[in-house]
Amino acid sequence: MNQQIGLPPRAQRPWWRDAVTYQIYIRSFTDSNGDGKGDVEGIRTRLPYLKALGIDAIWITPWYPSPQKDHGYDVADFMAIESDYGTLADAERLIKETHEHGLKLLVDIVPNHSSYKHEWFQAALKAAPGSPERDRYIFRDGKGVNGELAPNNWQSVFGGPGWKRVIEADGRAGQWYLHLFAVEQPDFNWENAEVRAHFEDVLKFWLDRGVDGFRIDVAHGLVKAAGLPDIVAVDPHAEMLAPEGRPFWDQDGVHEIYRQWRKILDSYPGDRMAVAEAWVSPASRLALYLRPDELANSFNFDFLGSLWEPTILKEMINRSMEALAEVGAPSSWVFNNHDVVRSVDRFDLGLIAGKADTTLERQGDPTKFNVLRGTTRARAGALLMLALPGGAYVYQGEELALPEVRDIPEDRLTDPRWAMSNYTDRGRDGCRVPLPWKADPAGAFGFSSNAALTPTQAWLPQSPWWGLYAVDTQEGHPDSTLTMYQQALALRHKEAGLGDGPMTWIQAGESVLAFSRPGDFACYVNFGAPIALPGNAQLLLSSGPLDGTMIPTDTAVWLRLAAGSLVNQPD
Ligand code: NOJ
Repeated sequence: MNQQIGLPPRAQRPWWRDAVTYQIYIRSFTDSNGDGKGDVEGIRTRLPYLKALGIDAIWITPWYPSPQKDHGYDVADFMAIESDYGTLADAERLIKETHEHGLKLLVDIVPNHSSYKHEWFQAALKAAPGSPERDRYIFRDGKGVNGELAPNNWQSVFGGPGWKRVIEADGRAGQWYLHLFAVEQPDFNWENAEVRAHFEDVLKFWLDRGVDGFRIDVAHGLVKAAGLPDIVAVDPHAEMLAPEGRPFWDQDGVHEIYRQWRKILDSYPGDRMAVAEAWVSPASRLALYLRPDELANSFNFDFLGSLWEPTILKEMINRSMEALAEVGAPSSWVFNNHDVVRSVDRFDLGLIAGKADTTLERQGDPTKFNVLRGTTRARAGALLMLALPGGAYVYQGEELALPEVRDIPEDRLTDPRWAMSNYTDRGRDGCRVPLPWKADPAGAFGFSSNAALTPTQAWLPQSPWWGLYAVDTQEGHPDSTLTMYQQALALRHKEAGLGDGPMTWIQAGESVLAFSRPGDFACYVNFGAPIALPGNAQLLLSSGPLDGTMIPTDTAVWLRLAAGSLVNQPD
């Protein structure tokens, strides 16, 4: 299968067609002021680490003022910095120094909802039904004789009803407002011109400060179906993020918004871009967000949701490549982010990411978790992902092969999913634990500048075994996962055939995913019994030790094939 034939050389195409972007979950990355929470200055001190890792760009999760009911995805002011994380001056300095390191910087934009503390929502609460203040959000009268029933049957993604009733100025129970996420995250009304204009100003505010682009939160959710119809004919237990039959996901009206945003991005110098967080299926629907006059990237969640299984992965890869080729867009491969169980655990337990975490827990038995097998697979998965055409997104700690933390005490869980699911879904805290920078537990394993801070005093507690994964243990160690990522990313820069461009499948058996890229480069991922390395191939990198000339189970290799060895391979 060949795509993107006629693509200009890497140096001449927009950076976002090839980039590996590193996701920084700011609260858990590095704490520079000793308060147990990560911050902007902490990120700045780690720029040399990120540069040495070999990534091309960073994406910082929301750093705006926020009551932190959903750790920053509840924004109180879109044009300022959370005081716990620093100041606008700190952010400007970080943007400048990131560029000095030759890296790009993306910020998160959260246009589907605000925090209940946002001045617009506070004004809406005080204003009367039907007022312009209320029209910026989605307020409706309730059903029933006294309006005591929610306006429709929409649920919150985090669990429970998607509507909350407010008390009006006269002290009586009144209208309801929509919150597809936490109660403290009221949904904006994107039919309202002021909302549209405000977000255009927000984009310009950050573009003026030099950011290279935006990760768009819930990009598929901004526009709701006219009349807010009930969800019908859907399994009531099916979860809310499912794209089918939901009158609030992937409505055609969202595309007009992104066309307008693209015009703004293009009005700035450099290849400014936006990446959509859009849980949309099938791939052909997702591709619509990537039409030439819309967004640059969209996370490939079908790939993230695949099991560690060659047939499924191959199908996901083929489907996305075909759909994206239709619109001329690159794929953005991703296996991890701050919302899903880490791939080390998923690939071992057979968990499916991208469904509600309750589903995850139900599918696998965490007590059977085999960390070695999970790590082996996650490492092989990384080499698969980084060899595929297009760009990739790496989540902090993935380069350390961090597993999910399953032993956070219940009274320390902070994800709103925990309470909103009636304490049945532990939520996403397990992939958000502050990074271990040092094996020594002082300063929460080097996460904090405050040496007196113990691992359990970090904002999310670190388990005693967390230091086993520390950066300082892995740095310079030939077999560590960190070293493997550094080598893979360095090779990716050197190999002109990697990043965006064509790929060709190589037939190597049912339990093997193998493909070549220009320059006689090949990636083999073996999911089954050991197989022999192809003849005369030069080994460039492997995800684990080889057994002589055999590629063991759950191992990936990058190879330089003998010239001409691919002739007559079926596509
Ligand atoms: C997606 C974000 O990644 C997630 O962390 C957040 O809870 C929801 N959107 C709501 O903003």
